[in-house]
Amino acid sequence: MLETERLILRRWNENDAEDLYKYASDPDVGPIAGWPAHRSIEESRDVIKNVLGGKEAYAICLKEDGKAIGTIELKLNGHTDMTDRDDECEMGYWLGKPFWGRGIMPEAVKEMLRHALEDCSMQKVWIGYYEGNTKSKRVQEKCGFKYQWKSENVDVPLMHEKRTGHVSLMTKEDWIWEKTQNLKFKTKVEKAGFEDIDTLVELRLDYLVEDNGSIDKKDAEKIREALPGYYRKHLNKDLFAYVIREEKTIVSCAFLLVIEKPMSPAFINGKTGTILNVYTKESYHRKGYARMIMDVLLAEAKDLGLVVMDLKSTEDGYSLYRSVGFQDDHSKYHLMKWKNQ
Ligand SMILES: CC(C)(COP(=O)(O)OP(=O)(O)OC[C@H]1O[C@@H](n2cnc3c(N)ncnc32)[C@H](O)[C@@H]1OP(=O)(O)O)[C@@H](O)C(=O)NCCC(=O)NCCS
Repeated sequence: MLETERLILRRWNENDAEDLYKYASDPDVGPIAGWPAHRSIEESRDVIKNVLGGKEAYAICLKEDGKAIGTIELKLNGHTDMTDRDDECEMGYWLGKPFWGRGIMPEAVKEMLRHALEDCSMQKVWIGYYEGNTKSKRVQEKCGFKYQWKSENVDVPLMHEKRTGHVSLMTKEDWIWEKTQNLKFKTKVEKAGFEDIDTLVELRLDYLVEDNGSIDKKDAEKIREALPGYYRKHLNKDLFAYVIREEKTIVSCAFLLVIEKPMSPAFINGKTGTILNVYTKESYHRKGYARMIMDVLLAEAKDLGLVVMDLKSTEDGYSLYRSVGFQDDHSKYHLMKWKNQ
């Protein structure tokens, strides 16, 4: 069972046949989605048994009375011709006409996207609508699906006709981006710019003090003097500083250093990244900021084509990095360093 503010998404059962018939017998609901209106309660009962029993098919119910008013479904590999991958699926839905226009479907779709991409480990959710279905098109736009292409002469077998179909897609990266940019969180992850350089200097020093316990005063002075020049040379070229602000003040950050190396099988395009300076000011801990920053940073790293990224984890950061996909690097090599004394 899944839950949103106003809705419960639960399995269909045979007792829902009357409610299903009430809404699915409306000629404005099924045909535009590709299936004929139901002609009897028996037919609806049959559909519950044979069509709506899929592993990821849910009845949409209002919390107030628990009655089924629509359907939302993930069609998994083997039940969709949009993909033949096990980590991709197609979403389909319809809603009883009396409930249209209240944002109910977008609410259900967003929860199903979360379910597909977070609980079911899907990488992509495909979705479509037939030419002329502007309401469904709006739902898909409002939920952040990205338009991909149109296909002419798509077979609509249950209606014995051909139509033009429009296909959109939500990838896991786009979902994470949507989620972190969602106003619900009232928090945005941004890339710092040159106007932030003074703050980035202080954040680096704060981080170093926290990481090392303390740093030598002279070292701190040298760093403070040299860092602005370093940032001017590298920021938004091969160094990206992801930040969250509260009241215009940066309270959390992480740096991504992009390093291009001569290609090897371990980094086939040579593009690698190092993450450093993951730091949230103490009074802003436990608000999920570091995770939000890491989600955005990783999505962007993929967009930049980076194939491996490394970091040195403190004890405090370990579980966060694990949860966003980092693993211990059991290297066959000796880690060595040389110091110019
Ligand atoms: C498509 C459908 C699920 C939309 O559900 P919903 O909960 O009404 O979605 P929303 O409230 O977000 O409305 C979506 C858009 O439909 C339009 N709309 C909604 N109710 C409407 C109504 N009564 N009259 C005219 N337009 C309406 C609006 O343009 C709205 O977009 P907006 O918010 O930008 O104004 C529903 O109309 C439906 O079940 N249609 C038939 C089956 C179907 O088409 N399924 C999808 C197959 S791909």
